[in-house]
Amino acid sequence: MSEPKKLFIKTYGCQMNVYDSERMAEALGGQGYVETKSADDADMILLNTCHIREKAAEKVYSELGRFKGLKAEKPELKIGVAGCVAQAEGEEIMRRQPLVDLVVGPQSYHRLPEMEAKTRAGEKALDTDFPEEDKFEKLKNRPKAKRGPTAFLTVQEGCDKFCAFCVVPYTRGAEVSRPADRIIREAQDLVERGVREITLLGQNVNAYHGAGPNGDMTLAGLIWELNKVDGLERIRFTTSHPNDMDDALIEAHGTCEKLMPYLHLPVQSGSDKILKRMNRSHTAESYLRLIERIREARPDILMSGDFIVGFPEETDEDFQATLDLVEEVKYGYAYSFKYSTRPGTPAAERPQVDAEVADERLQRLQALITRHQRVIQDSMVGKTVVVLFEKSGRQPGQMVGKSEYLHAVHVSDADVARGDLRKVRIKSSGANSLGGDVI
Ligand code: 5AD
Ligand code: SF4
Repeated sequence: MSEPKKLFIKTYGCQMNVYDSERMAEALGGQGYVETKSADDADMILLNTCHIREKAAEKVYSELGRFKGLKAEKPELKIGVAGCVAQAEGEEIMRRQPLVDLVVGPQSYHRLPEMEAKTRAGEKALDTDFPEEDKFEKLKNRPKAKRGPTAFLTVQEGCDKFCAFCVVPYTRGAEVSRPADRIIREAQDLVERGVREITLLGQNVNAYHGAGPNGDMTLAGLIWELNKVDGLERIRFTTSHPNDMDDALIEAHGTCEKLMPYLHLPVQSGSDKILKRMNRSHTAESYLRLIERIREARPDILMSGDFIVGFPEETDEDFQATLDLVEEVKYGYAYSFKYSTRPGTPAAERPQVDAEVADERLQRLQALITRHQRVIQDSMVGKTVVVLFEKSGRQPGQMVGKSEYLHAVHVSDADVARGDLRKVRIKSSGANSLGGDVI
């Protein structure tokens, strides 16, 4: 048998790209590739790229430039660009960087095997279509290899919301939901391979409306179906839009035992003026009332969010409204970004905020968020949580996993294995993790 070829994938951006990278590696597995952790010994390098913020494309070009030496040493090395920069830039990538052999968009990667064969024949391969066929259906025969206790599963892709700052509706296209039976089959497969927790993914995951046995199913319906899968212990989902948090989904947070008490619900800004300009179609008040209802259903739920500071025409007053909203919600986790101009999006045309002002706001917001995060993490001390153990820790005998609330928890010298779910009494709170004893 011939030596397997080696594939190095570098993943940028969101969790959906992590999932896509796994599926691309599996697709190329059929072409005789195994994954390697280093670009140096690879026969194929794939950059799975993100286009969400500025300079993403520039970063890809500079990363590609670094592979020049490798390609000179090993002319048979194939270099590919996948993901959202591939979608946005297409052929331009090969024009600007001739060492690129393959460009594949996020909706076409089921065609990678043919594309790879084309590159081996010395040709360039480009595919940034939004094809009719379902890529997941084409890739349904996943290998049965054992895997870790947690997995991502894409259920929905694309976005019809058109927030004024965002490129996703252009790179990932219109909202498409996968049929429920295929998702359940994939979940069952993952469980057979050792997975105990699944995070359902979608750019707008709670807008999910995939075909079910009796017409379209919502995300809540899908979660209840997954709740029946034997051996699956935990369900999470991300990323949600406030306008798609329907009653059934809120209620599921209170009643569905496998659905974890954690919700990532980005609001982006606390100012109604800015929310309107962002085309968010909700207000700060309606968001706060929504969180109130979610917390009524599940009082201990840990909230997480995303924020953009320095959006065009954001004044000090607008920014203060964001700080006020954060103060009211108290996020267990939150991610904040400086507004980044994306060509082709409506906000790119508006008067921009001074970069220094935006930097200063970002620092202030991050300091506030970090303070809340810390208080919430520290409040776990003395409580008992259930931890899904994922890997060994840095110290000998240490095991690390995640609580229901997604806090990292480590224990020492306990008789626990990867994939075990155990009750842990929390006794300390450190910089990025909690420590405790298995009980
Ligand atoms: N500039 C800054 N942040 C952005 N995000 C999306 N587009 C932009 C942009 N143009 C942030 C939003 C989103 C997260 C994934 O990235 O907060 O929720
Ligand atoms: Fe980046 Fe958004 Fe594309 Fe994910 S979907 S890779 S975050 S641009």
